[in-house]
Formats: sequence, structure tokens, C-alpha cells
Amino acid sequence: MDRSWTNSSGVDLYLEMPSGRGRRAAVETALRNAIRTGRLAAGQRLPSSRVFADEFGLSRGTVVEAYAQLTAEGYLRTRAGSGTEVAGTSGIRTRGSTEHVAEAVSADFRFGQPDLSEFPRSLWLRALRRAFSTAPTAALGPVDPRGCAVLRTVLADYLGRVRGVLADPNSVVICSGFSQGLRVLCDALSAAGGRCIAFEDPCLPEHRAIARAAGLEITAIPVDDDGAIPELSRDVAAIVLTPAHHAPLGCTLTAHRRREFVRLARESGAIVIEDDYNGEFRYDRQPIGALQGLAPDHVVYGGSISKMLAPALRLGWLVVPPTLIDGVIEAKRTADRGTSTIEQLALADFIETGNLDRQIRRVRPRYRRRRLELLATVTAAAPDISVTGAAAGLHAAIKFPDHGPTESDVLALASDRSIALTGLNQFWHNGNGKPGGLVLGFATPAQHAYANALSLLHTLLCDVFPST
Ligand SMILES: Cc1ncc(COP(=O)(O)O)c(C=O)c1O
Repeated sequence: MDRSWTNSSGVDLYLEMPSGRGRRAAVETALRNAIRTGRLAAGQRLPSSRVFADEFGLSRGTVVEAYAQLTAEGYLRTRAGSGTEVAGTSGIRTRGSTEHVAEAVSADFRFGQPDLSEFPRSLWLRALRRAFSTAPTAALGPVDPRGCAVLRTVLADYLGRVRGVLADPNSVVICSGFSQGLRVLCDALSAAGGRCIAFEDPCLPEHRAIARAAGLEITAIPVDDDGAIPELSRDVAAIVLTPAHHAPLGCTLTAHRRREFVRLARESGAIVIEDDYNGEFRYDRQPIGALQGLAPDHVVYGGSISKMLAPALRLGWLVVPPTLIDGVIEAKRTADRGTSTIEQLALADFIETGNLDRQIRRVRPRYRRRRLELLATVTAAAPDISVTGAAAGLHAAIKFPDHGPTESDVLALASDRSIALTGLNQFWHNGNGKPGGLVLGFATPAQHAYANALSLLHTLLCDVFPST
């Protein structure tokens, strides 16, 4: 077997040439295999026959004939001015086709997304450009696992100003979203001998999976209208809470319960992990400050840019008490050695120039309007069903009554009508006997499509909850 690299004309190509055949047959087989298996995607340019021949030690005629044969078979095509490329035959992978798979949905009310059409592309691009053009050469070298000092400093100020977080830049660790923050925390707790972590019930199933993957056992903390109910078993090393806006039920943890959780953490030595999910989006009154401000030595504060800007940026942060900081830095170093520098510098610029504040002030009233329209739609279609959690954040929840349609029936009907919904059941630690329902994200449909999306939701709810 002959493995070769070419590096010419800007096109690198790796091919496995089968041995024991004529040279032309070997080239054809190698290219066919690479295209069939999707390693060479439709649209991929190939080196010119001259360059290919030089790199693989073949005669140019051999390559010209092989290219001609594969063109005749539909694997390749020639384009005037751009040479030979992989053809877009059906069944052959298209470049980029595995990314951004657009699902055909008429209305998307799935949980967990901001309105991506509001992403401030040109401002972000400007921040990225400034970050790149002003970064010293050393910024392109190995990174600090805690993140860039400039972003940690800017974030410490920002979080203090908008969320009441008490942060020193040295206590901030930048992660790839809150999800990775949770993972490195779990790794650090595990390395320090922790065995068990408590999550609200219900909570995001992905977060339970992250803790499990780090080797921790999971226990449940029940939630009522006032948020998580303070209780703690002895062997729990950490309690994960969403105090600002419970995910998914949307209640806010009361001041009394906040103090109770802090007291329990102090007494037991456990830490509270505050997932400040949607803390910036409060509609009915002033935002409620972060729980971390009450007890910075016992609370890890976690947040991310996913809802304020876009989840695709994968930027989040932890503010970590001194007792845990070294373990968290070590876990982050082990996980990936640190987060990409340029995006961190761009975010620091975006915050410092006031663009993040302006973006939140711009989208908040839009989300507030949408949330009112969603409430009106649900109430008009199903007046007996109460909607929770719409006072903040980007979603509201409804629980189905005991004697009514099941969650899977509703989801199936919605899917038939190309309405994308998120069911409540998966959020319970153990869904048996727990109410089904929906977690309705109201930020996703683009503004121009929102009225139509609501109308489809209205019809669906009228059909599944006919008035008696
Ligand atoms: C409850 C909760 N916390 C945090 C996040 C943010 O996660 P990340 O920062 O990893 O995108 C999400 C995202 O949907 C979430 O649902």
C-alpha cells in the first residue's frame, strides 16, 4: 500500500494507493474510494494533473487518463478556469452537508435558543477584527487555562455591575460554555474525593449526563413554585441551582430559600453551583441579583454568552471560590488546555465597548413582547392550563392535566404538523408518574415568522385541549 501526501497548488491530498495494480487503476481506485466514503466531498478541488503526477511520481498521461475515466463515471467534473473537482452526484457527501442540517419546521418553539437572526454580526465581526489586529504576537501562543487576563478582568467588572457577582479576575475561569464549566467543576470535585451532586428535579438532562460522565452520583432536589426546596443529604459535594429562572419550570428562587441553601452549604461544606441561566432577561421587574453575591466563598457562579449572543460561540465562565480554584484550573487544563484566545479578546472588546449592554437592551423588549403574545395564545387556546415561568428568560412551561392528552401524543401531532416542541418529561430525574407538558421556547422563530408560528401553536392546542 502506497500512502502519499501532495502539497501543491494550495490543495493537500492524502490517498491510499492499492498496490499490485497498474498505476492508472491504482489512482482511479484510490480516488473512487475517497469519494465514496465521503473523505473527498463534492466541490473539493483536485490538484492539476501535472502537480498530481509530480507528487505521486507518475506520468502526467496516467493522471489525465484517470481523471477522464472518473469524469466519465460521474465522480469528477471539470470546470473552466478552476480545474477538476469532485462532482455532486447523489449519494456523495457534499462539502459542508454534515453541518447546519436545516430541518423543515413551520414553527420552532423548542427550548433553549435565542433569536439567532438578532445576532449582531457586523459588530461581532468588528470586535473580532479589532481583537486580531491589536493582539500582540504572544497572544497567538499557548493559552492560560484560566482564560485571557483581559477578558477575566472585563468579566469580573461586568458581572459585578449587572448581576451583583463578587469576582476577582483571578477567580474567573473561561470555558467553552457553561456546559464545559459544569464538567470541569465535576472533574475537580471528583478529584477532591466528591461522590455525589444534587440537581433540581426537573433540570436539564444534559447537565445530569455531564455529572454522570465525570463519575458523580446524582440526587434530586424537588422544586415547587418558590424554586428548589432547601434540603441536602450528607454526602452531597455540590448542589446545582438555577435561581434566576428555573430551567425548565421558570420559577425564581425566593430570597428566603437562597439564604437557606447558603446556610446548608456552609454547614455541610458542600458548594452551590449557580447556573445563572437567563439572569439578564427579566421582564416584570428589576433583575434579581446572583446568589453568589450572598456567599462568594461557598457558591460557584456560572454563566455564558449562549443566550445573550449565540450558543455557537461556545464561551462561558465560572467565578470560583478560593478552595476550588486550583482544582478547576487543573481540570480545565486537562480538558483542553484552554479556550480559543481570539474569541475571548473579541468578547472582551464587545463588552468594553458597551455592545453587549446595547444588544441586551435591544432584544429584551422584543422577547418581552413575544412572551406576552405566547401567553395570550396559550390562554386563548387552553384557558384551563396554567403557564409558568414567563416572567423571565426565553421559555415558558406548561404541565398537562392528569386526564388529558399525553405528552407523546401532543409531540407526535405537533411533529406531523412540522411544529417543533420540547416535551417536559425528559427534564424529570425519573419521569414515571410525573406530569408531562411542554417547555416552550419563544425566542427561536424569526420576528417575521412569529405570528404565523403562534397561529399554528394555537390551532394545535385547540385540537388537543378542546373546550368542554
Ligand atoms: C439550564 C441551562 N443552563 C445553561 C445553559 C447554557 O449552556 P452553554 O453555555 O453550554 O451553551 C443552557 C443552554 O440551553 C441551559 O438550558
